[in-house]
Amino acid sequence: MQNRSVEAIRWQNDQLGLLDQRKLPLEEIWIEHASVDEVVNSIVEMVVRGAPAIGIAAAYGVALAGRAQYSRVGAQWKQALAPDLRALAGSRPTAVNLFWALDRMGGLISELADSVDPFERLLVEARAIHAEDLVANQTMGRLGADLIARESVTGKKVITHCNTGSLATGGYGTALGVIRSAYNAGLIDGVYADETRPWLQGSRLTAWELQQDGIPVVLNADGAAAHIMSKGAVSWVIVGADRVAANGDVANKIGTYSLAVLARYHGVKMMVVAPTSTFDLALQSGKDIPIEERSGEELTMFVGRKIAPEGVSGFNPVFDVTPAELIDVIVTERGVIESPSLATVKAIFCPKKSTLG
Ligand code: MRU
Repeated sequence: MQNRSVEAIRWQNDQLGLLDQRKLPLEEIWIEHASVDEVVNSIVEMVVRGAPAIGIAAAYGVALAGRAQYSRVGAQWKQALAPDLRALAGSRPTAVNLFWALDRMGGLISELADSVDPFERLLVEARAIHAEDLVANQTMGRLGADLIARESVTGKKVITHCNTGSLATGGYGTALGVIRSAYNAGLIDGVYADETRPWLQGSRLTAWELQQDGIPVVLNADGAAAHIMSKGAVSWVIVGADRVAANGDVANKIGTYSLAVLARYHGVKMMVVAPTSTFDLALQSGKDIPIEERSGEELTMFVGRKIAPEGVSGFNPVFDVTPAELIDVIVTERGVIESPSLATVKAIFCPKKSTLG
């Protein structure tokens, strides 16, 4: 079953609609975006979040910017667009899908004529990025479920971190896509969702999304993961990624690294699910991945109330880097990378041609 029950990004009435993820699960509010500035603001404020979803929103943002600049300055639209592209690129630093999408839109822009309104062509490209991500997720869902089926232990729960579902992507999800496929195939019987402090993507978004699909989900504090693994309650850790370096190191939501260390100690397998748009082959290792730090108030405040002593500040890196050696497998839409390394990552991107013709 390849369902797409939740949708978070839609193009409607010549505007970009984003489901406001800050408000979930209490309220389902769509925000319409008619300008690139509004899109930039929604990425910064996390109305839209999740690596592929940020890239898709940015691509639609480029289309909105192209439309506005062409109507403002006509044939000078390409020069006028440069600050808009910079603003989109400056919205969040870690998820490389943002820069991948801007590069792809930039490639198209360089091919377009100065004298023709670029809007329709830019919109077609943004829609293609959106649609291709859904297909990639469905493919990864199948490949990841096959890996679970290959292991002798099935019928257990898996543990996941952050939100990697339809809300974070063009649909179906990366890690949640594998979880959906595995559950539908009867290979797992439910999910432990880390609540994912401090933004609570796990409790507010993942638990909500899985509930919509009728997949049994239990919420746990991030710190409970070791205890859960020590009881033998999970067969896999399954997470997404925001950027994968050439050597297979993976940046993902803060706390992923801890899960990987715990998984190795307890003999639980670690699966990362990421489309090729999440790979940054220009970076040799995860040490070079920029790690976003958000306001310490995400830690010192809770639902608008101060919960830490006055004068205490919060340190809030929102991603960490899991070394490749702690990852058993990275699932991409092009295939599966077992024991990720420089060589095994390269094999997915530059497969050797068969000498048999
Ligand atoms: O800060 P966020 O919510 O944008 O972080 C999202 C994550 O870390 C996800 O795990 C990652 O983007 C993979 S989602 C398909």
